Amino acid sequence: MKLPSLNIAGFKATFPLIQGGMSIRVSTSALAIPVANCGGIGVIGGSGLPPEELHDDIKKAKAATDGVVAVNIMYAMKDFYQLVMSSIDAGIDMIITGAGFSRDIFKIGREHNIPIVMIVSSAALAKLSEKLGAAAVIVESKEAGGHLGTDKPLREIFPPVREVVRNIPLIAAGGITNGFEMAEMMDKYGADGVQIASRFVLSEECDIADEFKQAYLNAKKEDIVLTSSPVGMPGRALNNPFVKAMNAGEDVSTKKCPQVCLKKCDHLYCITERLNMAREGNIQEGLIFSGENTYKMKEILPVAEIFRQFKEQAESMYKEGRGFSPSF
Ligand SMILES: Cc1cc2nc3c(=O)[nH]c(=O)nc-3n(C[C@H](O)[C@H](O)[C@H](O)COP(=O)(O)O)c2cc1C
Repeated sequence: MKLPSLNIAGFKATFPLIQGGMSIRVSTSALAIPVANCGGIGVIGGSGLPPEELHDDIKKAKAATDGVVAVNIMYAMKDFYQLVMSSIDAGIDMIITGAGFSRDIFKIGREHNIPIVMIVSSAALAKLSEKLGAAAVIVESKEAGGHLGTDKPLREIFPPVREVVRNIPLIAAGGITNGFEMAEMMDKYGADGVQIASRFVLSEECDIADEFKQAYLNAKKEDIVLTSSPVGMPGRALNNPFVKAMNAGEDVSTKKCPQVCLKKCDHLYCITERLNMAREGNIQEGLIFSGENTYKMKEILPVAEIFRQFKEQAESMYKEGRGFSPSF
């Protein structure tokens, strides 16, 4: 049966899927536009971009689609507020934020009438987010790519959050690769939608080097590992020579750090530089963030085809009405 739409503070995604924000130009307007056109929420990764570049990319996306376009900005960024204000000025529909917790962002959201969506990994932060005025909450588990706030799987951390978040949409994120899992999260676990990122790296429209996509396609289960990030959180990435060297304790720090990106950086390595390398195709020395289930995906597809498959699969098993049940 048809999946319900996802309504966040009046912004309606006709298909309840948010494309996860991916910083350093992995998810730009090139990806967000087709996602929004397909009825999902297209997300531009704002962290690591100069505020002016982010502004222009949001303007481009907003001019190209009538769908919903959001920006993802990590609280850990030094220029968090500049990026937020630049996004609001460019006409973004909503701001999604995580990797740290900002109370001030809710004040900015109220002042500018911009919905704030929080990414959390615990019931306590989810509850606090709702209390402070979040328009929706995304629960992100250890299967996700990039920085992680938990070592627990989605099906373990989602139910306690569902218990406490009752009045705003609750989105499940981490390791979802197909429409069957989407329907499971919505039907059995009571999610109002899902956020998916790695599947969209393997889309034709994702504007990164082919080598990055090939590294995803070649990845086996054991090639997707945990590693450290200078942000001070663990990260999930492909186990390439750079990650192997770092995990082995070799010195991978950069000697020419301009110290402009993170509020607090332990200088283990330059994350902006390494993510950029990966995006440009240096898959030996770059940091290739990846979800835990990337190895299950073996095709690069157009965004519209990803949506078609998710819709077909999810609707073949979705039975509306079960929704949230304390007994599952
Ligand atoms: C390449 C890559 C970059 C990411 N960058 C960010 C980011 O900048 N901010 C953020 O909140 N999440 C980031 N994430 C996490 C995703 O937005 C998403 O929540 C998560 O990957 C979902 O799991 P999945 O990839 O298994 O679908 C990133 C993930 C990947 C794979």
